[in-house]
Amino acid sequence: MVFFIHRTGPFAPLYQPPSHAPLLQVPRNSSTQRREEDKETKRTRIIAMAEQNQTDAGRHQEVGHKSLLQSDALYQYILETSVYPREPEPMKELRELTAKHPWNIMTTSADEGQFLNMLLKLINAKNTMEIGVYTGYSLLATALALPEDGKILAMDINRENYELGLPVIKKAGVDHKIEFKEGPALPVLDEMVKDEKNHGSYDFIFVDADKDNYLNYHKRLIDLVKVGGLIGYDNTLWNGSVVAPPDAPLRKYVRYYRDFVLELNKALAVDPRIEICMLPVGDGITLCRRIK
Ligand SMILES: C[S@@+](CC[C@H](N)C(=O)[O-])C[C@H]1O[C@@H](n2cnc3c(N)ncnc32)[C@H](O)[C@@H]1O
Repeated sequence: MVFFIHRTGPFAPLYQPPSHAPLLQVPRNSSTQRREEDKETKRTRIIAMAEQNQTDAGRHQEVGHKSLLQSDALYQYILETSVYPREPEPMKELRELTAKHPWNIMTTSADEGQFLNMLLKLINAKNTMEIGVYTGYSLLATALALPEDGKILAMDINRENYELGLPVIKKAGVDHKIEFKEGPALPVLDEMVKDEKNHGSYDFIFVDADKDNYLNYHKRLIDLVKVGGLIGYDNTLWNGSVVAPPDAPLRKYVRYYRDFVLELNKALAVDPRIEICMLPVGDGITLCRRIK
């Protein structure tokens, strides 16, 4: 069981406990400790930590520093030891370019980009889709992983941000794999599901857009992804807010989308058409493998 979730970075932590507190881990003698601690004490402690967190908000400014890990140091260790040294040059360039953009909090983190890149290679993905592009960090991670004739249908309501990253994607020589559609993704999916030939045609679909539509996306994507293919839903731990008590002081947008994320997580957990795996990478990603 998770006691506390630590989220650093520009999305700001929700329950940032003091550095000595246990995070995303079970305390050592957990069962005895937990039994002794009555619910009220636990609740008070969580709220106190959330309040502490409010004062710490904005402490971490590094772009892409999206982590639910035990400490900043541990996250930095991962980045510096295994992510940055192996990050392809164009991804580094795009990450640094995105860092200067005012909405940089939206970018996919470097460790998640590395994860997606390897995952796509592992499953030999060829035909893919991405909902929520922004400046294209996850898109580039995908494009670099696909074979020369691989395809990505990329959708976003904002073309301008995509075009900001496009020169880097072109320089990387992978833009020919991308078909960008500007506009809301849902009507496009509606059109696609009408045509039987699109059914079961995607190896991988990454969803990183409007959280209040994830369940609507799922209803359509389940037909479009192939049996044995994967859908990845991003932000399924939603800044750690999925374990927030009802009266926790959450940022407005976090509170608003939290219920949608909770609903999605519940629905995915009981969906017999998929196998799932929720990973604490970035802001949480749930992989859904279609089985029927
Ligand atoms: C978190 S960002 C995506 C980050 C991106 N995956 C990356 O690697 O940087 C979310 C994106 O979803 C887009 N978006 C929001 N609502 C959308 C919708 N209805 N259809 C398509 N895109 C949408 C936003 O414009 C924004 O660029």
